[in-house]
Amino acid sequence: MPPYEAPKGAPDIVPGAQKVPSELYHHVVRTGEDLFARYGYRLIVTPVFEDTALFQRSLAETSEMVNKEMYSFTDRGGRSLTLRPEGTAPVIRAVLEHNLHRAGLPLKLYYTAPSFRYEQPQAGRYRAFTQLGVEAIGSEEPVVDAEVIELGSRFYGGLGLQPELLLNTIGHPGCRAVYLPKLVEFLRSHFDELDEDCRRKIETNPLRTFDCKVPRDREILAEAPLITDYLCGSCADHFEAVQELLTSVGIKFQLDPRLVRGLDYYTRTTFVFIAAGLGAQDEVGGGGRYDGLSELLGGESLPGIGFGLGVERIVLALQADGIEAPDSLDVYVVAVGDEVRKRVFEIATGLRSAGWKTDFDQAARALKGQLKAADRAAAKFAVIVGERELADGRYTVRNMETGHEEPVLLDQLTDYLKDELNGPH
Ligand code: HAM
Repeated sequence: MPPYEAPKGAPDIVPGAQKVPSELYHHVVRTGEDLFARYGYRLIVTPVFEDTALFQRSLAETSEMVNKEMYSFTDRGGRSLTLRPEGTAPVIRAVLEHNLHRAGLPLKLYYTAPSFRYEQPQAGRYRAFTQLGVEAIGSEEPVVDAEVIELGSRFYGGLGLQPELLLNTIGHPGCRAVYLPKLVEFLRSHFDELDEDCRRKIETNPLRTFDCKVPRDREILAEAPLITDYLCGSCADHFEAVQELLTSVGIKFQLDPRLVRGLDYYTRTTFVFIAAGLGAQDEVGGGGRYDGLSELLGGESLPGIGFGLGVERIVLALQADGIEAPDSLDVYVVAVGDEVRKRVFEIATGLRSAGWKTDFDQAARALKGQLKAADRAAAKFAVIVGERELADGRYTVRNMETGHEEPVLLDQLTDYLKDELNGPH
């Protein structure tokens, strides 16, 4: 037994790990960050902890997360602080604090945020996890909803995943004011048949009864009135427009009128991405509109929409589909003989300057050991340099996957690799 272990529900993300290997984690984060930047989103980094009141206010005091799941503590100055359970409220707080919305709207921001929830750990559910997120702030236009959802779909597609997209609208507060009494009336009429948790939600947060997992409750809720039948004209039009836009770019979605999402700030469009084969924790991402959140936090009206994608869960989905991280190295330089060893640093530096991900032996291994190291480092090519090669300027390039070897002139090495690898990345 090691003297200390990572806390329960907080996995280490290390190279080669069985659960969440850092190679795949890095691949997911990098794919997301590169893509979000390509869509005009800019990086935002907020502190890992915030004033507890921010989350109490934004997530509503009745929500499950505020009641049970927050990591809150009092610091040495007597302030109540909370580790970030989700990324949207801190982003809106920072936007308002720095007047970012004054510099033109919509404001498009992305983040890679360590997040913390005191949940019961299980496969795919952690107490410390990472959310890749975007927030598009300041426009109510349906095209923003469509862009955010298309961006999420493209992100998964780029990784080789095809999660199902479930889409719904929960209307604006006006629609819910008409709908909720109908739902509550229905739930009360079935009060005796519902489990305790559901009964409690009738009073505190009736919409969330749709999240109930008890089979009998689900049967009852299958008969419940649906928000989509109580939408005002403007919310119905908005939702229609979002669907048309998504269809126009070939995004497939499934309408799910019972999709309510776990956070209380949502309005109108809500969506989740569900990956097959992950068991109970199969929601690899989700988001929606939060048009009233800024005002709830004391700011001006700033409609917004965004998503949060669970990096660790996406890694699990990639593993379930047998998708591996791209090779981490382009080239491993193998040096044979003492004279060459003296030059290997120079050769590797030259390759690095040319843009190749390169490494070389730093443990004075023999040829076999160096090739093994090249394999372990997941290099695509080994460039083998012996004294003869050094003398006539012709290196042996070995494809580590096929084992095929070819002599390549030194001044043609970069072109050769470029052809084989489609350019430096
Ligand atoms: P959320 O649905 O609570 O939304 O979380 C987003 C994603 O984070 C989930 O779909 C899931 O993939 C991942 N996730 C949540 N909890 C855990 C956990 N305990 N362990 C592992 N992964 C987890 C939000 O947080 C919103 N802020 C998303 C958003 C952004 N809405 C608008 N903008």
